[in-house]
Amino acid sequence: MEISHAKQVINIDAKLTERINELLSHYPADKKKSAMLPVLHEVQDAHDNWLSIELMDRVAEILEVQPIEVYEVASFYTMFNQKPVGKYMFEFCRTSCCAIRGAEDLMDYTCSKLGIKEGETTPDGNFSVVGVECLGACGYAPMLQLGDYYKEHLTKEKIDALIDECRDNKVNLH
Ligand code: FES
Repeated sequence: MEISHAKQVINIDAKLTERINELLSHYPADKKKSAMLPVLHEVQDAHDNWLSIELMDRVAEILEVQPIEVYEVASFYTMFNQKPVGKYMFEFCRTSCCAIRGAEDLMDYTCSKLGIKEGETTPDGNFSVVGVECLGACGYAPMLQLGDYYKEHLTKEKIDALIDECRDNKVNLH
């Protein structure tokens, strides 16, 4: 697991606590660990899309588990970020169908257009680019996930347009 030493303001406020409690209510009181995935999603969404060690430790307290159990889950799934990421995170599928249809070239194109390497974030904090495993939209390859949405049948022209829309604040993430 890559450890980030970036500081994160932790804010588990009343609204987030209420949402977490609602999620926990779906599981037996002595099996809070079962709610780990939805709770991590909820907590990450409320904290600029990343989970610091301190925040994962808070989740461990809430779920009444050891911190290592939260680290293991958060570091296994690519949808959880252990370092600050850009507001617009381009998650390129690089598995077989997308790879055959040019995903690697499109990711390289996007990185060079943004002046970053894969796994990096632009200095203004707006864009990140990462490669991920199959996102289950193989029939629409090549594709990427941006926030809660899939962008499919990608081309360089579509990438150009998408970046412009992000810069113009015209892209919904949720
Ligand atoms: S291979 Fe890309 S979505 Fe499945």
